[in-house]
Amino acid sequence: MNDRLTVDVHLDPSELEAALRADVLAGLGGRPYSLPPKWFYDAAGSELFDQITTLDEYYPTEAERAALQQCAELIVGISGADTVMELGSGSSDKTRVLLDAFSAAGQLQRYVPFDVSETALRSAADSLVARYPDLQVHGVVGDFDRHLDRLPTDGLRLLMFLGGTLGNYTPGPRATLLAQMAATLRAGEWLLLGTDLVKDTGRLVTAYDDAAGVTAAFNLNVLRVVNRELGADFDVDSFEHVALWNADAEWIEMRLRAGRDMTVRVPPLDLEVPLVAGEEILTEVSAKFRRDGIAAELATAGFEVVEWWTDPAGDFALSLSRRTD
Ligand code: SAH
Ligand code: TRP
Repeated sequence: MNDRLTVDVHLDPSELEAALRADVLAGLGGRPYSLPPKWFYDAAGSELFDQITTLDEYYPTEAERAALQQCAELIVGISGADTVMELGSGSSDKTRVLLDAFSAAGQLQRYVPFDVSETALRSAADSLVARYPDLQVHGVVGDFDRHLDRLPTDGLRLLMFLGGTLGNYTPGPRATLLAQMAATLRAGEWLLLGTDLVKDTGRLVTAYDDAAGVTAAFNLNVLRVVNRELGADFDVDSFEHVALWNADAEWIEMRLRAGRDMTVRVPPLDLEVPLVAGEEILTEVSAKFRRDGIAAELATAGFEVVEWWTDPAGDFALSLSRRTD
C-alpha cells in the first residue's frame, strides 16, 4: 500500500449483478438481440483487449499514441490543468505520454483513472505511483454511465476519454454521455477526446477481425461473462464473431452469429432466448467520426473545440475542448 494511492470502489458485486440482469433482460428479452459492451471487460476481457491493442491490424492504439506525442506539451500549456481524470482508462498505457509531459512541466498533482474493470485499474495505478514519485493517484472503479458525479471536484481538471470509446455509443446515448461530462466540469475546464476517423472500409473491418482471432475471442468473452455471472447456458463454441461496416451509420458493428438453432436459458431471469441458425446478437458498435460532426456534437453538449490534432497519417483524431460558460 502506498500513501499516494487511493481507490474508491462504487461497484459492489450485488449491484453489478443487478445491472447485468437488467441489461441482459433489455438486450435478450426480445428481437433484435443485443448486449451492451461494458460487460466485455472482466479480468480476462481486459487482458484480451490489451492484446488487441498490440495487433498489427488494430491501428487506433498506435495512431492515437502518435497523435498524443505530437500534442502532449501543448495540452499541458493550453489547459494549465493540475488534475488529469480519465474515463475508461484501462491499462493507462498511452496516458503516460501525457503524464510525462505534465510531470516534465512540474504541473501534475493528481491522476484519476476511472474504469469498470477493477483489476485493470489497480494494476495501472500501482505502476503509475511507482513511475511518478510526486503523483497522487485517485482511482475510481465505477460505471461512467452512472457514476460521473463521483469524480473529485477540486483542482483545475482535464478530463480525458481516449481509445475511441465514445464511438462505442450510438448517437442518443452518446449525446447523453457528452452532456453528463460537460455537467461534471466547470466552465474553463477541459476535455481531451480521442475519436477514430472514417477511412478505407477494408482497413476498418480488418481492425475488428484480426487474423489471429484475438478480437473474436474478445467478442465471445461476453457470453462467458453472462454464463458465469447469471448461470446462462450459452454454448460459446457455437457462435461466430462477425465484424461489418455499416455505411449509413458510419460505424463498425460487432456481432455474434449463432451457428445452429438453439434456445439459451438465463435462469435468474426466467428467460429463454430462441436463436435460429445464422441469427445474430449485436454486441458493439464502433462509430468513426468526421471533424465537423464531432465538433457539432461537442458544441451541443457544452464544449468548444479549441485544438484538433491527428497522427501523421490522419487516421485518428484528438480534440481538446473547453467547457463553455
Ligand atoms: N483507454 C484505453 C482502454 C480503451 S477500452 C485505451 O485507449 O486503450 C475501453 C475501456 O473502458 C476498458 O478499460 C473498459 O473496462 C472501460 N469501460 C467500458 N465501459 C465502461 C463503463 N460503462 N464505465 C467505466 N468503464 C468502462
Ligand atoms: N473502443 C474500442 C474500439 O471501438 C473497443 C474495441 C476494439 C472493441 N476492438 C474491439 C470492442 C472488438 C469489441 C470488439 O475500437
